[in-house]
Amino acid sequence: MKLWSGMLSGDLDKFAEEFNSSIKIDQRLVFDDIKGSIAHVKMLRKTGILEKNEADQIIKGLEVIKQKLLDGSLKVDLTSEDVHTFVESALIDEIGELGKKMHTARSRNDQVTTDLKLNLRDESKEILKLLKKYINVLCKKAKENKDTIMPGYTHLQAAQPVTFAHHLMAYSMMGLRDLERLEDYKKRLNFSPLGACALAGTTYPIDREFTVKELGFDSLMQNSMDAVSDRDYILELQSVLSIIGIHLSRLSEELIIWSSQPYHFVKIDDKFSTGSSIMPQKKNPDMAELIRSKSARLIGNMNQSFVMMKGLPLAYSKDMQEDKESIFDSVDTIKMALEVMAGQIETLTVNKEKMLKACKDGFLNATDVADYLVNKGLSFRDAHHISARLVKYGIENNKGLDEIELGIYKNESELFEEDIYDEIDIIKCVNERKSLGGPAKSEVERQIKFVQEKIR
Ligand code: ARG
Repeated sequence: MKLWSGMLSGDLDKFAEEFNSSIKIDQRLVFDDIKGSIAHVKMLRKTGILEKNEADQIIKGLEVIKQKLLDGSLKVDLTSEDVHTFVESALIDEIGELGKKMHTARSRNDQVTTDLKLNLRDESKEILKLLKKYINVLCKKAKENKDTIMPGYTHLQAAQPVTFAHHLMAYSMMGLRDLERLEDYKKRLNFSPLGACALAGTTYPIDREFTVKELGFDSLMQNSMDAVSDRDYILELQSVLSIIGIHLSRLSEELIIWSSQPYHFVKIDDKFSTGSSIMPQKKNPDMAELIRSKSARLIGNMNQSFVMMKGLPLAYSKDMQEDKESIFDSVDTIKMALEVMAGQIETLTVNKEKMLKACKDGFLNATDVADYLVNKGLSFRDAHHISARLVKYGIENNKGLDEIELGIYKNESELFEEDIYDEIDIIKCVNERKSLGGPAKSEVERQIKFVQEKIR
């Protein structure tokens, strides 16, 4: 029998029953539901809405249910309508008729969003930890690669030399913003909807401040209709997780490129690679590819949440039951992706020689040839043209800029002297780029310190 079956005649259609049920998804909230219910019943006791001994028995019953679920002697009944009806039925089974008093001055509408907030608050803490771990791995790898010169790209065309550390630190900065977004979203999540009841509060003398404290909320939602209708916290979390997913997908894409032939900049550890069933030489970056595609899943989930909420009239509508599957999926997805990415970076082998060679082959010091002339008084535009002609010469004669004879340089400009070779030394080119945020070793060391202090 349904808890609400009082005025409805007969049973639900078999398919409607299944369609209506959310227990398979929201069973995940069972401990949050018990926690919220215990706080609610304590409040009923404190305000005298329930007799002390009644409330005590209910609380004890809820604790027993929790224990039984933990030790496996009670299983969530998957034929229940949802997690709330399951807990209430289990309570009635446990302590009898008195269990029916638990739902006084409450509705599933304020209950479900309270549960979900408690759950997502805990989940965000987990994600935060994983995010910090991942950022820390980036910093550690960066520390080992402060001297690892590699090509920096724009348009995926070799542009200027940077270091692998500098490149990794770019991702750690994205991670820092992700951390901040996650912290920030929690500020708006942490308001209690409990006590809004169905939509219009209650005539019982409830004490909403009491449950705020019991459940660790910062404050309470000020309007009961808003309290039961609001799912902004889901939209925000979906957005935050999608952005993290996008960052991870970009790094994945780079790992895929860097580990491919003819790059060979990095080797992804065997622990994170798979082979081909037909081509014996193959080692595939499956984990990076999966993380890349998981970002699509996160964006899909985010989109589902937004479209579900769009145009919903106040207050609760059953549409909102569909808020859970996608947010739980996003939470699980990002947790896995962060773990796998951290492991992948930690175990990554870096091929320093290949990276350096790619810098030499790619004329990455062409800007420095121009800068050399600018320092001697030429305008940058003219210097740019001269450098471009030297690059052209290099390509035609299969020579790097450091291999072109001084005579050729002098043909282009009398300003060139022997010291040009010093100035265009790739390592020097990197380490002279000391401007704040740049790739110079001293500067990247500062960035690493900056990030590590933030995540402490
Ligand atoms: N299972 C429902 C959900 O997840 C709980 C709230 C049901 N409220 C209602 N009035 N039918 O949204």
